[in-house]
Amino acid sequence: MSSLNEILTEISSIRAEAQKEFQNAQNQIELSQIKAKYLGRQGSVTRLLKRLSELPPEERPQIGSAVNLLKDELNELYEKMELKIKKNAQLRALEQERIDITLPGRRQPYGRKHPLTQVTDEIKEIFQGMGFSIAEGPEVEYDYYNFEALNMPKNHPARDMQDTFYISEDIVLRTHTSPVQVRVMEAQKPPIRVIVPGKVYRHDSDITHSPMFHQVEGLLVDEKVTLGDLKGTLEVFVHKMFGKETRLRFRASFFPFTEPSAEVDISCMICKGNGCRVCSQTGWLEILGCGMVDPAVFKAVNYDSEKYTGFAFGMGVERIAMLKYGIDDIRLFFENDLRFLKQF
Ligand code: DAH
Repeated sequence: MSSLNEILTEISSIRAEAQKEFQNAQNQIELSQIKAKYLGRQGSVTRLLKRLSELPPEERPQIGSAVNLLKDELNELYEKMELKIKKNAQLRALEQERIDITLPGRRQPYGRKHPLTQVTDEIKEIFQGMGFSIAEGPEVEYDYYNFEALNMPKNHPARDMQDTFYISEDIVLRTHTSPVQVRVMEAQKPPIRVIVPGKVYRHDSDITHSPMFHQVEGLLVDEKVTLGDLKGTLEVFVHKMFGKETRLRFRASFFPFTEPSAEVDISCMICKGNGCRVCSQTGWLEILGCGMVDPAVFKAVNYDSEKYTGFAFGMGVERIAMLKYGIDDIRLFFENDLRFLKQF
């Protein structure tokens, strides 16, 4: 049986030793081990408490409160050290993860418009400048609008010029944007001045043909519209699109929906008309079809062809883009190779 003084000395020495150990703890693991050593179920402070019952009753209160005081002190010290270790770890992490704000940032790559969208926008803008507005129509179209109302009845040989994708007997993927002419005229009365950009489809594929491509159709109907108006309008367009020095040539041609019809050539911008590979040594490049609206088309939409006349034209966007930028394979537009697209 230990004397009162002996126990009090033991308490002091445990206190001194524990304080030193807690204060030297380097990390949470060490700290937990020290806590177990003194305050755990087998810890020295806990063991002291258990020994209280061996003491004479009159000594128990004094020793008991001394041991409890020690226990509280050590618990407090533990919590203080735990906080300190956490803070140190945090500071160290901040130090290591320091960001160098003087480094240059990573640039966000900019997207841009596809070259075909750019060329379509340019065409639209030029015609809008001449008072045309934009019209659109469906890509899945009735045979009636794609052919019939454009003066191409069933079995008309001109249908063979366009390799049509048929959805059913009387529904097709439109082979050109011309059917929108008919839809616009059905919906409104003259004067009409529209251009129609859009996708068209033909069963044809090689370096200059794609099964899906883009056209821009134009239609102007009013009283006293002449071939001279058509020529003037297209001349303004060509000069804005390809440059003032570009010359135009109207070649007589045939389309069922125009009479007379013409194809328009422009002087080759590569060789300036001297003859080269791109223009097959002719000095000329074909860029669009056009003509005066055929009275048969006016009849289909109940327009009085004695009162109204008009002109129409249609051009391929890919072809114009290829000529403008000297691109020799139409498939480049649809492969979405960024090395190609980034050049525009
Ligand atoms: N639709 C014709 C085609 O795809 C192009 C065309 C020619 C449109 C003459 C017209 C036109 O409006 O008058 O080949």
